[in-house]
Amino acid sequence: MAALELPIALEPLSLGALWHLSEGLRFVRDNVQPELLAQDVAATPGVSVQWSSFLSREGLVRQALSLATALELASIRGGARSPSAFRAHWEALGFVAHVARDGTPADDYLDALFLTSRLSFVSSSAPLANVNLASRASRVSDFLSVAAPGRSDVVFDLGSGSGKLALTVAASSETTVQGVELVESAVDEANGSAIALGLQNVAFQRADVRDVDLSAGTVFYLYFPFRGEVASSVAATLGALARQKDITVYASGPVRDYGEFFVREVEQGALRLVQRRGEFEEVMVLRSERG
Ligand SMILES: C[S@@+](CC[C@H](N)C(=O)[O-])C[C@H]1O[C@@H](n2cnc3c(N)ncnc32)[C@H](O)[C@@H]1O
Repeated sequence: MAALELPIALEPLSLGALWHLSEGLRFVRDNVQPELLAQDVAATPGVSVQWSSFLSREGLVRQALSLATALELASIRGGARSPSAFRAHWEALGFVAHVARDGTPADDYLDALFLTSRLSFVSSSAPLANVNLASRASRVSDFLSVAAPGRSDVVFDLGSGSGKLALTVAASSETTVQGVELVESAVDEANGSAIALGLQNVAFQRADVRDVDLSAGTVFYLYFPFRGEVASSVAATLGALARQKDITVYASGPVRDYGEFFVREVEQGALRLVQRRGEFEEVMVLRSERG
């Protein structure tokens, strides 16, 4: 706790640095057990003052963060960052993990902007759904480079969670983005972020992806959102679509019970596995086999 008592000069901190600091302080507060704190306060003189001082510093950081977020959102809404300038800005912050491996500067900036929880336990309770874990900025950057979605594309993020991938792609390009997500609160948050950023090219709908008409899509992003029969059904839908039009699928996740269904579409001649990417080759980039 002593380190947290050091004076913090908040003024020069960037939005991402404020987010990182704020998340660290919140983590400390969330992990202090009230009964143990009460015992420490009773046993050690000065702990009570130290704790109050920590709480007031945390409050100051939160205030500074919310001001910095509001200013950045207003400037983006006002057109201060074109899509290419926005992309260049967050990519330039870099993807080098902090010492504690709790994110990167690019993730800090994007997560601050979209208020993305690093790990939200508000996720679907459907048995074949996965937790709402947002994509890393480095993955979003890779997706933008590989899929290069343009003005005439329609990108679907299948299982869009709190919208980090979809919002970042929409703000970084001229493409149209549609998020599909089961969890209503995540959809509301994502639509709220789109409004706060003034983005007209992204929308989120609450639905089971199996009930959505995907035929307008040209590019599909999936960050291991589901497995088993849901994954099988979605891969079959994309396979059928790939027989009708040119599409790109960027799917990350394990082969077992998920990637295997895309491999099935490759074996059946609907999709072509263009490449595998990622540290563990966990990303499959697939395109229509037509022509
Ligand atoms: C790992 S998160 C991905 C978040 C987002 N795509 C990103 O990359 O930042 C997967 C999300 O898929 C959602 N999901 C799971 N099954 C779904 C289904 N059948 N239809 C729609 N969304 C689903 C979960 O609720 C969860 O929020």
